[in-house]
Amino acid sequence: MSSDEHTVSRRGFLRTAAGSAAATGAVGTATAQEDGESSGDYPGSGQTEEVVVGPGGSLVFEPAELQILQGTTVNFVWESDGHNIVVESQPDGANWEGTKGGSSALYDTGHKYSHTFTTLGTYEYVCAPHASAGMVGTIEVVEEISTPAPASGPPEIPDSAKTLGIAGIIGMGSTLGLAYFLLRFGGDYEQG
Ligand code: CU
Repeated sequence: MSSDEHTVSRRGFLRTAAGSAAATGAVGTATAQEDGESSGDYPGSGQTEEVVVGPGGSLVFEPAELQILQGTTVNFVWESDGHNIVVESQPDGANWEGTKGGSSALYDTGHKYSHTFTTLGTYEYVCAPHASAGMVGTIEVVEEISTPAPASGPPEIPDSAKTLGIAGIIGMGSTLGLAYFLLRFGGDYEQG
């Protein structure tokens, strides 16, 4: 009697211990995720991309379209005079302001300007004096860079399956042939 009670209570204790261990684990995970967010630990943290502003005097951003991982820093480098970056649209919650001074302030060759993109979504920006000439750019901030999926044709039948299929047909043919042979000539053998 008393030993049974002891066993039950011991099991109960183990169950409780396992339960609190699991709970502790859950709390630990939640804390780690929070720390990750607050310390700016994004998939693209520490990564940089470069956009050339007015390369060779041409009125473009190069590249004009850029896909980056969340947390990537984009370095804009001026290679000709009289350009700026004015943000036309950005995702809710993002606070990209572009170059200082708004649309009226222009910057010359050698100017550098950086921004780290942490809010997911699409950003559209222009060079104010040259927007109508097509000096516009787009930056898409994503959690994962999408690579085009490999072209998928019809499912291939492995050679081994084909061989098995052929063997099966041949096998079935010989069985039928044998059955026919036995039906036709079986009696003769019995008599002989
Ligand atoms: Cu410009």
